[in-house]
Amino acid sequence: MSKMLEKARNYELTQGQQIKAEERPAFHISPYVGWMNDPNGFSCYKGEYHLFYQYNPYQTQWDSMHWGHVVSKDFLHWDYLPAALAPDEDYDKIGCFSGSAIELEDGRQLLMYTSVQQEKLDDGTVRDVQTQSVAVGDGLDYEKYAGNPVLTAKDLPEGASKADFRDPKIWKEEDGCYYCVIGSRPADGSGQILLYRSKDGFQWEFVSILDENQNRYGKMWECPDFFELDGKYVLLTSPQDMLPEGLEYHNGNGTLCVIGELDPETHKLKEQFSQSVDYGIDYYAMQTLLAPDGRRIMIAWMQNWDTLAYRRNDSKWFAQMSLPRELSIKNGRLYQVPVRELDAMRTNKVAYTDVVIKDTRITLDQVEGRTVDLELVIRPEDKTNVYEKFELRFAENEKYHSALSFRPHESVLKIDRKFSGSERAVIHQRRCQVNKDSNELKLRVVLDRYSVEVFINDGEQVMSAVILTDQDAKGISFFADGAAKIDLVKYDLV
Ligand code: FRU
Repeated sequence: MSKMLEKARNYELTQGQQIKAEERPAFHISPYVGWMNDPNGFSCYKGEYHLFYQYNPYQTQWDSMHWGHVVSKDFLHWDYLPAALAPDEDYDKIGCFSGSAIELEDGRQLLMYTSVQQEKLDDGTVRDVQTQSVAVGDGLDYEKYAGNPVLTAKDLPEGASKADFRDPKIWKEEDGCYYCVIGSRPADGSGQILLYRSKDGFQWEFVSILDENQNRYGKMWECPDFFELDGKYVLLTSPQDMLPEGLEYHNGNGTLCVIGELDPETHKLKEQFSQSVDYGIDYYAMQTLLAPDGRRIMIAWMQNWDTLAYRRNDSKWFAQMSLPRELSIKNGRLYQVPVRELDAMRTNKVAYTDVVIKDTRITLDQVEGRTVDLELVIRPEDKTNVYEKFELRFAENEKYHSALSFRPHESVLKIDRKFSGSERAVIHQRRCQVNKDSNELKLRVVLDRYSVEVFINDGEQVMSAVILTDQDAKGISFFADGAAKIDLVKYDLV
């Protein structure tokens, strides 16, 4: 093991253990200590789910990317393992950037990641050079391959930049070959997804440009994933520098899901549908795995590069992963629901039906808490006189609250955390177009100590946001302008 990795492992062990369990999310992954961004290597290996993550143990800021490592049997209770990779080689000394993992034929686990180094240009400026490298291990310790890097500038199609060539996602096909998709920047300055193939995971060849952005959805496409689901092919990617399109895409670092067919001859995606993956404030760099039972499960960084200023200065860790979500395709749309394993954490069921809320704010007995699973159906009390606005507040006390509000006449659901304790002027709201054809809105709201994830109409859309409010703000209340009628089931998540 390199000195650098050993140092990181010692540091995280002594520092990470000092963080009390109550200071972390209860069932969302947070870094052992320090900074975390993208999920990497989300995979199943020897009967356990592994997740690696972009990691700087030494500070709660992005720097010197290592790979952190956690394992779980149920996607919700995660154990920390020692850091898996450090940027300790010449070819990755600027960082071990994002990548993925797979089990090899011989039972070893292969990690494939973007190795970053720098080069000096003729004009004296320095720029990153991104290549792909691999490491093999036993689920705990990994050794970088002597033949690294395995994909370099010479494997790029013409015009593609060697400074933006990153985030390999690997999988195995029925033809016995490994494939991977990698984000790339073509000469037009936007993004494209490259497809590569390998017989053994070490020797790779270029196959095709799977899909091209052509400056439609942001610019560079980061962190691609590609898989078959419910008879369609799905490309997930996280575009940088996006412009909003109505309420569908928002500014900055966004998420994109393209659904289509795969041309088996040309290995190109024939696009049919596109949408955001998440409509909340914090969601980026999603990655999926195929579980042994056939479920396609997605996790993401529940954070946004544009809102890093929303943070707690008293915390020794920064950022979390989203809940793992089960995916499906219905009517050309991506649906997401929390992994069914979450049901086992539900306790203390409280149910109410036909509660009328009219021009007033109410609370309901036993409906409060910060680790909660809440199912709500909201309808107009009088179909001929539909209410103007319904609001659900949570993480609430006299000083703080966050809210979801629905305006049926506009079919807009809004999340708002500006009163959640933030002292910074960053984005605290986002709106989502929902319920075009119906007056009945169905929500599943999953609260963990420092987040909310809202599953709308059985997962047709999701809104995720970090909520950093003090834990004693645990009130939940309901308001309607006009008369709304709700059914509610609430569980504590334990
Ligand atoms: C996305 C990203 C990836 C890169 C990693 C570096 O959030 O920019 O493209 O590999 O973060 O930490």
